[in-house]
Amino acid sequence: MPITWNSSLETGHRQIDLQHQELIELINEAEAGLVAGRDPEVLQDVMPRLLAYALFHFATEDGLMTHSGVNTAHATAHQQAHKEFADRVNAMKSSIDAGETGLLAPLVSYLQNWLVEHIMKTDRQLASALAKKRRN
Ligand SMILES: [Fe+2]
Repeated sequence: MPITWNSSLETGHRQIDLQHQELIELINEAEAGLVAGRDPEVLQDVMPRLLAYALFHFATEDGLMTHSGVNTAHATAHQQAHKEFADRVNAMKSSIDAGETGLLAPLVSYLQNWLVEHIMKTDRQLASALAKKRRN
């Protein structure tokens, strides 16, 4: 099922929310391609755009953490979560590129679940820490 943007996904930080919406659109595009059986297009076109955008988005959040001086424990755990995501996705992608079949559907589900969970917990914590810093 595609992810529908809703208020529970909002962090309240405009730049982060806009980037999350873009990421969700890309994940939905991958899912729609998968459902339609267009696996080669998903792998060769949608997935590279999605991964590039995810890395750009992580860099944005890392930059916000660095420049705002949010608590180091949060920043370290948050950066680690981004790294684990990138490692896991790259590993799955390499297996697919090496010819392993049946991995595209689990990859798309992983992207969907990871993003929703990460937004609702880690990114919301970041947005509220950033808002607190702005008020101080
Ligand atoms: Fe994040």
